[in-house]
Amino acid sequence: MPVYFQNNFQRAFGTWPLKDKVLVDALKCAIDTGYRAIDTAQMYQNEAETGQCIKESGIPRNEFLITTKVMPANFDDSLFMPSVEQSLKELMLDTIDVLLLHWPPGDGNIGPSLKLLNKAIDEGLTKNIGISNYTADMMRQALQITNYPLVTNQVEFHPLLNQDILLAASQETGIPLASYCSVARGEVFKHDIFNQLGTTHNKSAGQIVLRWIMQQEVSVNTMSTNPSNIRANYNIDDFSLNTAEMNSISELTSHNYRIVNKSIVPWAPEWD
Ligand SMILES: NC(=O)c1ccc[n+]([C@@H]2O[C@H](COP(=O)([O-])OP(=O)(O)OC[C@H]3O[C@@H](n4cnc5c(N)ncnc54)[C@H](OP(=O)(O)O)[C@@H]3O)[C@@H](O)[C@H]2O)c1
Repeated sequence: MPVYFQNNFQRAFGTWPLKDKVLVDALKCAIDTGYRAIDTAQMYQNEAETGQCIKESGIPRNEFLITTKVMPANFDDSLFMPSVEQSLKELMLDTIDVLLLHWPPGDGNIGPSLKLLNKAIDEGLTKNIGISNYTADMMRQALQITNYPLVTNQVEFHPLLNQDILLAASQETGIPLASYCSVARGEVFKHDIFNQLGTTHNKSAGQIVLRWIMQQEVSVNTMSTNPSNIRANYNIDDFSLNTAEMNSISELTSHNYRIVNKSIVPWAPEWD
């Protein structure tokens, strides 16, 4: 079973854009709530505080699943491995659980960085590897290049965006998807269906959104600084949406509301 589907790792706590005390307070609350999958990245510049919180939690290291991501500026033979060693140092870990390539390279040539990612496993720097922001075509290409399973493609995934092409590529390649912008940074709450279904299930609107993601066998990253939202986002495994409810939420994907696009991330690929 892919790592994000083991234990309680299907619900991860994302750390972007948190830093300093705001990060420490939110992450402590998340760990107290029960989150053990934690998502950070070199780009977030918060690996050190993240590592400190993990260490200070007193929880055995092997109960956590720590994900970090190599930034494209480090996709270079001389920079890649030192950057991962620096991440390990900041996180105060001996090995990373899941190391992702944060973005496909700007020129679309995914081979060199994927080979470096494989090398990070060979050198014992990480246990698992994966990708982020890859298109369906890149997922298929990646399968031909990698020597090790890619345990995730972390992508924008929420009810206001149609990701059927990526879901089909995930089925085809066996590379599971993980969500980011899972509540579309709050935009989902403009749609009343989540409150309506929340009333039916005695859950909050946010919990309905996340359950819709989880039931598509997509693992979920959420970020919140609000303790009640942190707890709500974790407590989504004690109810289920029926097919009609799933389908009525899926109708919203026709909005094609994409948050992470070239206007904010110029190096983003042409999305599916
Ligand atoms: N791989 C990538 O390129 C990439 C890109 C973006 C993000 N990520 C990862 O994914 C994580 C999550 O994505 P994101 O933070 O961009 O988007 P998000 O989770 O959709 O939005 C976070 C915002 O939603 C609010 N929120 C969270 N849960 C809520 C709830 N239950 N009810 C109401 N509001 C809620 C939070 O406000 P409050 O603090 O007030 O709760 C916060 O402002 C990031 O932290 C990061 O780890 C990865």
